[in-house]
Formats: sequence, structure tokens, C-alpha cells
Amino acid sequence: MADFSGQAGMRGYFAPSRFEADVYDCETTGEIPKDLDGAFYRLHPDWLYPPNPPDDIPLASDGYMSMFRFRGGVVDYKGRYVRTERFERQMSARRQLYGYYRNPFTDDPGVRDPEHPQRRTTANTTPVAHAGVLYATKEDGLPHRIDPNTLETIGPTDFGGAWKSQAFTAHPKIDPVTGEMAAFGYEASGLCSKDVFLAIFDRTGAVTREWRFEVPYTSMLHDMALTREHVIIPGGGCVTSLERLHEGKTHWAWDSSKPSYYGVIPRDGEAKDIRWFLGPERAVVHTANARTEGSKVILEAPAADANPWPWFEDLAGGQFTAPRNTLRRITFDLDSKDDRCTEEVLFEQPVTSFTRVDDRRLGLPYRYIYVQYFDLDRPSRAGSHPQLRYGANSFGRFDILTGELKSCFGGETHMLQEPSFVPRPGSSEEGDGWLIGTAHNPAEMRAELMIVDAPTMQEVARVILPFRNATQVHGAWFGAGELPLA
Ligand SMILES: [Fe+2]
Repeated sequence: MADFSGQAGMRGYFAPSRFEADVYDCETTGEIPKDLDGAFYRLHPDWLYPPNPPDDIPLASDGYMSMFRFRGGVVDYKGRYVRTERFERQMSARRQLYGYYRNPFTDDPGVRDPEHPQRRTTANTTPVAHAGVLYATKEDGLPHRIDPNTLETIGPTDFGGAWKSQAFTAHPKIDPVTGEMAAFGYEASGLCSKDVFLAIFDRTGAVTREWRFEVPYTSMLHDMALTREHVIIPGGGCVTSLERLHEGKTHWAWDSSKPSYYGVIPRDGEAKDIRWFLGPERAVVHTANARTEGSKVILEAPAADANPWPWFEDLAGGQFTAPRNTLRRITFDLDSKDDRCTEEVLFEQPVTSFTRVDDRRLGLPYRYIYVQYFDLDRPSRAGSHPQLRYGANSFGRFDILTGELKSCFGGETHMLQEPSFVPRPGSSEEGDGWLIGTAHNPAEMRAELMIVDAPTMQEVARVILPFRNATQVHGAWFGAGELPLA
């Protein structure tokens, strides 16, 4: 039975939606660019049944994919749950069967399977496309293939046996020069293990290289970065153990005494060639971009000074307060004898963790980082509105060459989410295109999609859904040439 009455945080705009939908020819304002031909996919958590225990965290909820199909200046919407094994089992049982986030020991005995934690994934994090295939991903399980037109769930894949890890990152990276995809899985051989499996897929989707190695200590490895010569995997801060899971706790806690770490892996090297660099307490949850310049590997990313997760207990105790989170440059000197990295703050403006770039510049010298942030100088009720408490009110274009910040304000009652960059057809200049991103509007209980001209950061159009669409984890644009779109 779906009784959400005990869920104080799931009210109003943040109540689960629990329905699938099609909207033909969406309401729009402004002018949708006629040459936009592709789809903006969002992947968001949406509880089918209330969590049990009731204080489980949003990251554990069922996955739901939304698609906004753009062509000829019009937009059609479709929304479907990701039909994971977990989802189907709960549908049949008509109740929540799974316990705390990434703790299978807290699951209903009928589904409990700690040897195969990937079977409890909800595939709720990032839409990914490679070699013409669309996936719903989450870092605790295998990617699920999704039909890019119907959003039907085809099922989980281990790439024909080529993927030798229980889990697959939610943030693989695609080399724009070769079309290769780099991806990794951590806790690869079992719960809380230090094992990482890293592989390169060629442009057809075949695994061509693979590595196995261990991290300095088991921690959340949420994202990665790619240069022409290196793979970078940041981690640290979060800690876990089988003892902790046996005690019935959620997967992660934060240990402020732990260093941050970064694996720097030569793409043409072996596992023994990995360098591990250490830094102070940090959370680099997402990366913006990276490049190799001679003997230096340079990563630009939003970095938080302390625990950024309100849901994960801090082992030092104390109340959660959101740490400073700013765009930084972290440099790894391959010629250095010691294993310390250096860090420089690029912009003092606090930002969210959701950075994007023009993906045609991934791993290459580049100029622009796009991210949503809270502009305190704009009129906004977001600071006090209880349902906008995680709010960002603006999209920002941060120019790392000049230090300039250009922004686009989303509205007084709107909460913005990660923008995706869409290249203008026929143009190869970095940043020539649009940003597309969600603007939630609790004042009218509806989700809107903003389309912003990226060079000027002026809004050109908005798609309006006649209902709420849950807050996403990630969104991504894929053009008609990247997926077989009808
Ligand atoms: Fe992410």
C-alpha cells in the first residue's frame, strides 16, 4: 500500500508523482529554435512506494526517465519509470521491499541478496548515450538499456560479459576526438570492496582496454574526468564498511579526517602506472573538465570543503551545514616526487555541484563551464520558500580564461537544475549553441524547461508541463545523430 502520510518531506512540489505521462505538442513560450532536433532526457528519483525505513534518502528512490523530444520548433513529452528488477518486484508486492540506501542487509528477507547488490539498483541518476544506445545509470548497479523513443526499459547489461564489475559509474566520459567511452565501476567485486574496474569502449561500444586496481580506501567515486592522455577518478571523504552495513546503517558516513584522493591513470599505461594524489578534506562530487599539459594533469571541478551530503552522518558529530562549494583548478604534477595535488579557487561565487561543458571540448583546452547557482542579487523567494530549499535561481556561464560570469535568471519562484549544452547545428565554435535545463515552479506546481542562447545567456523559449516533474539527478541532451530517434 502506498501510504506517504508519514513522509514530511514529500509534500507539495516534492510529493512523488507516481504516474507515467505523454504530452503531445507541449505548451511553449518564446520561440523554440527550429533547428533543435534531438531529445533532452531527465532521470529523476520518484518513489513508487514510500521508503522503509521512513528516513531513507532520496538517492535510493525509483528511477524515472523523462524525455522532451524537440523537432521543427515543437516539443513532445514522455515520462516512464525505469523498470528495474527492484521496481517490478515492488509493483508485484504493492509495497516497498528494499531498505536503506545501498545496504542490502536491511532489505526484506524475500529479496535480500548482499552478494549481488547490483540487483537492487534503481537506475535513477544519469541518462547516458554511446554507440547509439541510451542507458539509465546509477553507480551501484549495471546500466539499464532504454528505448530512446518509447522509454521502454530493455534491461540491465554487462555488455555481453565484457563488463567485469558489479557496478557502472553514472558518469562515463566520451572522448570527442575518438568517440571512445571511458567508464569505471567501484566496489567492483562486492560490497565495500576497494576494487575498481575501468574500461575503454571504442566508438562501436566494444571494450578495447581494461584495468583493475584498488583505491587507497573505499569511498564514493561518483564522477571521473578524461583528458587525451589520462583518466582521473576523484574520491574521498565518504567511508563505509561491512560492519557499518551489518549495523543496519545507510551506506556512507563522512570522515573529515580522511584525505581526498585522485587516481590519475595513463590511457596507454597499465594499472601499475596509476598515480594516487592526495589532498585535504574535500568533496569533488562532479567534474567539469580536464586536460593534460606536458607533465601536468589539470582538473577543473566544483569542490566542497567538507561533507556536502545532508543525509550522511558526520563521524565527527555535529549538525550538517552546507560547506563552501566553488569552482577550482586541481593540478597533478606527474614530475613531482610527493603525492600532493595543488588547488586554486577559480571563482569565489558559490555554485552547485552540477557543472557541464560543451562536450565537444571534453578533455581538450576549453573556456566555458556551465552550472546553476544561487544569485543573491536577483529577486527570489527561493531563500525562504521551504520547497525551494535546495534552490538555484540562475544558470551561469563561467569563463575560465577571463574570469567573467554571465548569467540567466530563471524566475522569482523557480528552482533551476543542471543545464545541458546543445551545439548549434553546423557550428563548431565552443559555446555556440543553447543551454537547456529544468526550472521547477512550485508557485504554479509545474515544471518548465528553459532554452537559453548560450553565447548571450538570454532565454529564448520555455516548455511548460502542466504538472510537477520530480527534481532530477541529471539531464542530458542527445541529438538526432546520436540516438536513433523517431
Ligand atoms: Fe552525478
